[in-house]
Amino acid sequence: MAKYQYETVEVTLENGIAWTLLNRPAKRNAMNPKLHFEMDELLGRMSTDPEVKVVVIGGKGGHFSAGMDLKEFFREQEGNPEAQRKSSEAGHRWRWERLSEYPKPTIAMVEGYCVGGGFTQMIGCDFAIAARNAKFALSEVNWGIIPGGLVAKIFADTVLPRHALYHACMGEVFDGVEAERIGLINKAVPAASLRKTVRELAQKLMLKSPNALRATKHAVRHVRSMSVPDAYSYLMAQYLVVGVGDTEDSYNSGIRQFLDEKSFKPAHGPFRLKGARAKTVKKTKPRTAARRK
Ligand code: ACO
Repeated sequence: MAKYQYETVEVTLENGIAWTLLNRPAKRNAMNPKLHFEMDELLGRMSTDPEVKVVVIGGKGGHFSAGMDLKEFFREQEGNPEAQRKSSEAGHRWRWERLSEYPKPTIAMVEGYCVGGGFTQMIGCDFAIAARNAKFALSEVNWGIIPGGLVAKIFADTVLPRHALYHACMGEVFDGVEAERIGLINKAVPAASLRKTVRELAQKLMLKSPNALRATKHAVRHVRSMSVPDAYSYLMAQYLVVGVGDTEDSYNSGIRQFLDEKSFKPAHGPFRLKGARAKTVKKTKPRTAARRK
């Protein structure tokens, strides 16, 4: 029996990667309250599961997410503030609080539609790779609301102000190529190679020290809103925190493998994690005048 079984989410574990797909394809993966509760619980469970090294968030049926479910999240919860509050809290928690602070690397894999509230988990992930023909839209303005929750804030924090204003005010569909151009995603790739590209990124991330990676991604996110003195002080403290509970003893392992064993070059890739096979590093010959001729 699969380890993670939910009605609105499908999880497949594959060599450390948790392919986590919203599973309401008939509704273009629009997010109803049940999906928020299930995703919230799932991300909590996976955060401490040693089998899960990288979490990929996507959608089944060729679409990332059509945003909040206009029927089940909005209309059907009208007049029920308690239900609204609970589902909003769960939605905010998994899409932003959990994802943006996740202890493991996270990748958004975007194909088809990514609309409105779907931007939150897409930006909440550490990385976003999209199909070139993916369809992004901040549709809120088109049906009479604002990009609420955190959407306006995190979108404006991610892209340049002109792009943020344009897309929030116009609500037009734009593709993966445009999303890459404005810095909303890391990369747009042909739809046929989307999964392969995401897998390769996940595999590269798994070669790095989990502790160093976790501290790095948290540091990059947190320093953005700090003053320079605060950031300096925070980073000096985090520098020490990286070593706490570090099963790889990353700092010492890295230095030893570079200086003593000469088995890797930090500028070219990560040090060897425990259990990984050693590889020999090719020595680059100095260029001599004779060789240049
Ligand atoms: N909420 C509820 N149901 C939805 C949503 C949604 N956000 N998006 C799609 N669906 C449902 C449709 O109602 C339809 O259901 P039905 O088969 O029972 O009639 C089914 O999903 C398929 O949708 P279609 O519109 O038929 O699919 P199509 O591929 O033609 O269009 C598209 C997809 C462009 C995503 C369109 O459905 C759409 O515009 N959806 C609304 C997207 C949106 O504005 N989301 C933001 C919500 S606000 C927020 O997130 C804060």
